[in-house]
Amino acid sequence: MYKILKKQKWSDTIYSNWIEAPFVAKAAQPGQFIILITNQKGERIPLTIADSNATEGWVQIVYQVVGASTLELSLMNEGDSLYAFVGPLGIPSEVENFGGKVLIIGGGIGIAPIHPIAKKLKELGNYVVSIIGALTKDLIIMEDKMKEASNELHIATDDGTYGQKGFVTNIMDDILKKESEAIKDIWAIGPPIMMKMCTRVANEHNKQIWVSLNSIMVDGTGMCGACRVSVGGKTKFACVDGPEFRGSLVNFDEMILRQKQYCDQEREALMLLEEKIRRQASNG
Ligand SMILES: Cc1cc2nc3c(=O)[nH]c(=O)nc-3n(C[C@H](O)[C@H](O)[C@H](O)COP(=O)(O)OP(=O)(O)OC[C@H]3O[C@@H](n4cnc5c(N)ncnc54)[C@H](O)[C@@H]3O)c2cc1C
Ligand code: FES
Repeated sequence: MYKILKKQKWSDTIYSNWIEAPFVAKAAQPGQFIILITNQKGERIPLTIADSNATEGWVQIVYQVVGASTLELSLMNEGDSLYAFVGPLGIPSEVENFGGKVLIIGGGIGIAPIHPIAKKLKELGNYVVSIIGALTKDLIIMEDKMKEASNELHIATDDGTYGQKGFVTNIMDDILKKESEAIKDIWAIGPPIMMKMCTRVANEHNKQIWVSLNSIMVDGTGMCGACRVSVGGKTKFACVDGPEFRGSLVNFDEMILRQKQYCDQEREALMLLEEKIRRQASNG
């Protein structure tokens, strides 16, 4: 059940796993996510579907180790099985043939969830202009896959070690200055602050933008309220009403504050797990 068919380490903190999950693979659409649990006592981890293959029955996830649960996942090996793998969850991206260009922006780990959206938009006949960015060269992921899913690919790194030096928003602004008319829709996925800044640039050019909100989630069914976000002045649940929303309507500042609310407990859980791993290692 939910066997890890393949596992790759892409950087110090980023991993990708291919999971055997034929029913999820069959139904998966761009923009959707899964929730997995590594073991019986594990926490639920929401992760976007980075790729899937209905014929071969697998789903690819890409994750960054940020706390105890993602560390636990990174310690599992090929051949191991996950305790649970539920999905696809969330409303699929509103993709169609827009009869022109679309702008796709992925930042850091957000490059993984933006990939299936770019791929589908290209399949539908759009001209896909993509921008991917990260802090540094080593954190640029899925470059080949994004090249394949795009008609044009631009790369930015904060420190200038690869592509253009600076933020994805610099390239976004340049593109919109040159061809605002031609761009029919925009998607941006990455850290909340990046999506907030992309929304600001889009607003300056009077363009609409989709963002994908990775708010804290628990049940993923719209029942617990953990993922609530303010969109257009109304309370929405990112797991069932999203995760994609129009950026201009999102209250990013509130979302960023809410994401930090369990920091102390998360730090404690990570320390306890690291201590357990150290103890196990020293006991042989
Ligand atoms: C719909 C959705 C899709 C996601 N897709 C991906 C993905 O494709 N790849 C990926 O690496 N991560 C993704 N995330 C974020 C991922 O779920 C969290 O990083 C993970 O749950 C953290 O668990 P942890 O126990 O390791 O860390 P914790 O100890 O719980 O948290 C460590 C740090 O991560 C932050 N954090 C915790 N939960 C979240 C969260 N849900 N979103 C963002 N930051 C969080 C905390 O504020 C804290 O600073 C997604 C989240 C959502 C809601
Ligand atoms: S995660 Fe519980 S309502 Fe969305």
